[in-house]
Amino acid sequence: KENVNILALESSCDETAAAVIQNGRTILSNVIDSQIALHQPYGGVVPEIASRQHVLAMERVIAAALQEAGLDFDGLDAVSVAYGPGLVGALLVSVSAAKAIAFAHDLPLIGVHHIEGHISANYLAHPDLSAPFVCLVASGGHSHLVKVTKGGILTLGATRDDAVGEAFDKVARALGLGYPGGPLIDKIAKEGNPDAFHFPRVMMEEDNDDFSFSGLKTAVINFLHNLSQKGEQPDVADLAASFQKAAVEVLVAKTIRAAKREGIGIVALAGGVASNSLLRETLQHAALANGLRAVYPPPVLCTDNAAMGGCAAYPHLMRGELMDMTLNAVPDLQL
Ligand code: KG4
Ligand code: ZN
Repeated sequence: KENVNILALESSCDETAAAVIQNGRTILSNVIDSQIALHQPYGGVVPEIASRQHVLAMERVIAAALQEAGLDFDGLDAVSVAYGPGLVGALLVSVSAAKAIAFAHDLPLIGVHHIEGHISANYLAHPDLSAPFVCLVASGGHSHLVKVTKGGILTLGATRDDAVGEAFDKVARALGLGYPGGPLIDKIAKEGNPDAFHFPRVMMEEDNDDFSFSGLKTAVINFLHNLSQKGEQPDVADLAASFQKAAVEVLVAKTIRAAKREGIGIVALAGGVASNSLLRETLQHAALANGLRAVYPPPVLCTDNAAMGGCAAYPHLMRGELMDMTLNAVPDLQL
């Protein structure tokens, strides 16, 4: 067959998303229905609200993705879904929808790992990209350093406590910036002095590929607490900038070091935090200085979307790695 069209679904957290991907690399449509406004009053994602909203939005989002791609169900060759990790009630909505579509239209069903999807967004952004590369996966739920090879994804290291996105969100909340914190810190940090305060670069010098962000988060929160006890007002922009620099320096140093040790010439970013402007800039700089190529997806493909899953699904379809109607959501799915 000349063109292979995959309908991809995603509902692992707070975005209901559907996309149509052609031949694994071309985005025919990419529809994302964000629930951010619904969760904002609570300062974080409320799982029950997320599940209900996915149920309400899923059919509409699928219809929009097909329409934007100029296709109906007959024009599809497969349906894919990110079946984990994520919130179980949220995941179940797209898993059920994908199974229903596969059953009703007699289409192959592919299950993808959400993180595999995040990594694959790099292929959509850089059609010439090929493995091997070292990828930093930095999102609200994950901070992993992985080696992507032709044979699969090998975990080199991971956070021992908080994910880096979680640290961004919690520091933002402590600074009174709101939710989600990552983009707000990114924005206000541009007006601050990143060297105003020195926060710990946890595990930066350690000879492993693991991370730890809970200590950095606590350092910022303790600092704020001390200020308020003295009755002083924090300089939010300086604090945001100093926190962000501490987090980014560790992420970049460890990514570059892993690539050099593994003898790999390409470093990539993936996940929501990959849209952070300082992280992108700093990685680009460090890669150049070390003779490496740095790649990252555009911001819309860094945060949760379905297009990335459709890209990840393609090689599985080609290899005949299919799921059946017993496919279930796996909230703690391992890489
Ligand atoms: O990948 P994602 O959309 O969802 C998960 O799979 O977790 O990542 C969401 C995370 C949130 O913690 C959010 O604050 C963070 O990505 N984020 C950012 C930026 N944009 C999103 N963090 C730092 N800077 C940004 N510009
Ligand atoms: Zn994600």
